[in-house]
Amino acid sequence: MRFFNTVASSFFVATIFLVSSLPAYAQSVFDVISNDPQLTILRTYLATTPGLTNRLRSSTDITIFAPTNQAFANVANVDLSRGQIAQILRYHFVPSGEFLASDISDGLQLRSAFQSERLNFQVNSTGVFVNNFSQVVQPNMMASNGVIHKIGNTPALPRTILAALNR
Ligand SMILES: *[C@@H]1O[C@H](CO)[C@@H](O)[C@H](O)[C@H]1NC(C)=O
Ligand SMILES: *[C@@H]1O[C@H](CO)[C@@H](O)[C@H](O)[C@H]1NC(C)=O
Repeated sequence: MRFFNTVASSFFVATIFLVSSLPAYAQSVFDVISNDPQLTILRTYLATTPGLTNRLRSSTDITIFAPTNQAFANVANVDLSRGQIAQILRYHFVPSGEFLASDISDGLQLRSAFQSERLNFQVNSTGVFVNNFSQVVQPNMMASNGVIHKIGNTPALPRTILAALNR
């Protein structure tokens, strides 16, 4: 009896040890996006870009700016092809590091995964903005392989798409 108790309690200790040595955040960037009710349009678009989805699952040290359903609704009148949507998604993905809100300063530029085109940041008393119009509405959503910042207002658009829309 005593023997079993000892075995049982050392098993218990080993289990606790294993659980506490798991990474602090179990969900990948992709999982966090997929489970967020404000990001269902983004999730639907990601389903059409498997290459990007894989990177959000398995790349490490990444940052993604995630347009909310409201942000996409605000550009719903803009006619975008599937290819343009894929470009816009890649433009919101920064593969070169995990940038927390505290790492983002006024004037910072980060290279996106869309042809390395830069995202420009403004930080002032109103908040944090991408390319002057897309405001960070929920920063620092942590995942096992990176960080997500939700953006409202509107998705950030790469130059090629802005040029096509103004034509
Ligand atoms: C943001 O707005 C400022 C002031 O109007 C302007 O000088 C700057 O070029 C804009 N930046 C971007 C990325 O649009
Ligand atoms: C902060 O920057 C954003 C984006 O450029 C701009 O729209 C907003 O008016 C600025 N707020 C202040 C208080 O300057």
